[in-house]
Amino acid sequence: MRYGVLGTGAVGRVLAGRLVEVGHDVQMGSRTADNEAAAAWAAEAGPNASHGTFADAAAFGQTVMNCTAGGASLDALAAAGAENLAGKVLIDVANALTFETGRLTLTVCNTDSLGEQIQRAYPDARVVKTLNTMGNEVMIHPERLPGLHSVFVSGDDAEAKQQVAGVLESFGWPPESIIDLGGIATARGTEMYLVLWIEMMQAAGGDRHFNINVVREAG
Ligand SMILES: NC(=O)c1ccc[n+]([C@@H]2O[C@H](COP(=O)([O-])OP(=O)(O)OC[C@H]3O[C@@H](n4cnc5c(N)ncnc54)[C@H](OP(=O)(O)O)[C@@H]3O)[C@@H](O)[C@H]2O)c1
Repeated sequence: MRYGVLGTGAVGRVLAGRLVEVGHDVQMGSRTADNEAAAAWAAEAGPNASHGTFADAAAFGQTVMNCTAGGASLDALAAAGAENLAGKVLIDVANALTFETGRLTLTVCNTDSLGEQIQRAYPDARVVKTLNTMGNEVMIHPERLPGLHSVFVSGDDAEAKQQVAGVLESFGWPPESIIDLGGIATARGTEMYLVLWIEMMQAAGGDRHFNINVVREAG
């Protein structure tokens, strides 16, 4: 499949690289066509990797991944273009957070979420929020942590969530670790979890290589 990965930061590069590794053609998008990080990634990732603007990458992808800074995601998606997102699965990995007050705060929470904002702005896209509850190293190689641990999916389109579960499995996530929370409004919970994630990371002296596991009573 062809993927458009919007975002040239660590998350965009890591996810785009893993998508190439598991056999897809990937174009990375940026505000500019000549973004240095995107060009370096494409050169290293090989013949199935390319780069361009947000609009180029979204047009290229049969599926699009939003890996842009959460506070700028709506601007990045506007640049990608509604016509390049319509009808496509749009995997949203972003968190709208800021450290402006010296502590992590979310720029949207409680009664709304970035996932919902994106779905409202692009009603013809099939938005699935996932992978936003862990560091990027864990997203693409869940086996680097011992035992089972959880990844969440939120979205209004059941078929889109099924497709995304397939992508997660191709990264190594066992099906029993993938928790479908329900509609896109459930992204509020996974986005607000970020506050706890940051505090756990800080409490562990900055170690980002951890995740949570949802454990249930047997039977
Ligand atoms: N770091 C993690 O492990 C982790 C884990 C879970 C979720 N996330 C979320 O994943 C997303 C990506 O994180 P990241 O650390 O890889 O990168 P980032 O630095 O948060 O975002 C970089 C991307 O955002 C774009 N961008 C920045 N300002 C913009 C603006 N004003 N208008 C349009 N686009 C703009 C950049 O465009 P250019 O390419 O043009 O520079 C770049 O592609 C974030 O939402 C983050 O919260 C991160």
